[in-house]
Amino acid sequence: MPTIFYDKDTGLEPIRDLTLGIIGYGNQGRAHALNLRDSGIKVIVGARKDGSAFTQATKDGFEALSIDAVAKRADLLGLLLPDEVVSSLYSEQIAPHLRTETGLLFAHGFVVHHKTIPLPEHGDILLVAPTGPGRQLRSLYESGSGLPALIAVERDHSQQAWARCLAYAKAIGCTRAGAIKTTIAEETVTDLFCEQAVLCGGLPELIKASFETLVSQGYQRELAYISCLKEVKLIADLLFNQGIDGMRAAISNTAKYGSAVAGPQIIDEQSKAHLQKILSNIEDGQFAQDFLRDTKNGSPTIKNLMQEEKSSLLADTGRELAEKISF
Ligand SMILES: NC(=O)c1ccc[n+]([C@@H]2O[C@H](COP(=O)([O-])OP(=O)(O)OC[C@H]3O[C@@H](n4cnc5c(N)ncnc54)[C@H](OP(=O)(O)O)[C@@H]3O)[C@@H](O)[C@H]2O)c1
Ligand SMILES: [Mg+2]
Repeated sequence: MPTIFYDKDTGLEPIRDLTLGIIGYGNQGRAHALNLRDSGIKVIVGARKDGSAFTQATKDGFEALSIDAVAKRADLLGLLLPDEVVSSLYSEQIAPHLRTETGLLFAHGFVVHHKTIPLPEHGDILLVAPTGPGRQLRSLYESGSGLPALIAVERDHSQQAWARCLAYAKAIGCTRAGAIKTTIAEETVTDLFCEQAVLCGGLPELIKASFETLVSQGYQRELAYISCLKEVKLIADLLFNQGIDGMRAAISNTAKYGSAVAGPQIIDEQSKAHLQKILSNIEDGQFAQDFLRDTKNGSPTIKNLMQEEKSSLLADTGRELAEKISF
C-alpha cells in the first residue's frame, strides 16, 4: 500500500502565513483558489488582463493581477495552466520575477518530469494533483468531503516542503478523502499512459470502430450509438464502484461468456505490444517532444482529430438522438 495522508495527519499552519499565487484560473485553478480561500489561506490570482480568467477571478472576489506581478509576490506559486502554455510562458513572464525562496506547485508533473521549463535553482517543487476535474474538486469541498489527490515533493528547499504540500492538499479538501504519496515521475507517466491507453485514446477508438462495424453491416446507427457509446456509462459506474470482478458479477451470463471469449481477441499479444510501445514513448520523452512540437506548429494533430470526430456519422447520430430521447 502506498502512504496515504488524511486530515488528521496535517494542519494548515505550514501555509497559513504564506501568500499563495495561483496562475491559471481555469478548470483546476479556479477550484484550487476558491477552496484555498475558504480554508482561510491568502490567495492572489494571476491571469492575462484581456482573458476570461481575469474577469472571472475578479468577479469571484479575488485580487486578480498580471502573471508577472503574482510571480513576484507569491511565496508559493501554483502553475495551473495547460502544460504547453507553462512551457511557453514560464521563461518570459514567470521565471524573471520569482524570489529566491518562492516554491512552485503543479497539478500534474508534465513540465517538471519532462524538463520543458528551466526550474529555478532554489525553492520547493511540489505536486498536488487532484484525481478529477476542478468542478468536482470544488463541489466535493463545498459538500464537506473531498477528492483524492496524488502528492509529491520533487525538491525540498525550505525543509518544510512536505508539510506545505500536505497543508495545501488539506486546504483544497483532498486529505478529507486521502492524499497518496508518489513521485512526479510516477504521476506523470501513469497519468499520460492511462489517458492515452484507456480513457481518452483506447476507449473512444474502440467505441468508434465498434459503431462503424455495426453500421457498415446495415444495423441502425441509433442502436449502434446507444449500445457502443451510451451504455459505457453503466459499465463505467460498475467498474468505478465495484471493480472488474464486481462488474462481471453484475452482468448476465451471456455477457460474461461473450466477454471471456471476445475480450482477449481484441486485446491480444499485438495490442499488448502497442501498449508497451506507448509506455516507452512516454518514458523516454518522445511523446512530450512530439506534443510540444505539434503545439508550436498550431496543433494540427489535435485539430484534425476534433474536426474529423465533429463531422462524423457517430457525432451526427448522437446529436440527433439527444433531441429525441432523454437518457
Ligand atoms: N483538467 C483536469 O481535469 C485536470 C485534472 C488534474 C490535473 N490537471 C492539471 O492541471 C493543470 C491545469 O490544467 P487545467 O485543465 O486547469 O487548464 P485549463 O482549464 O485549460 O487552464 C485555463 C487557464 O489557463 C489560462 N491560459 C491559457 N492559455 C494562456 C496563455 N497563453 N497565457 C496566459 N494564460 C493562459 C487561461 O486563461 P484565459 O482565460 O486568459 O485564457 C485559464 O486561466 C495542468 O497541469 C493539468 O494537467 C488538470
Ligand atoms: Mg492528464
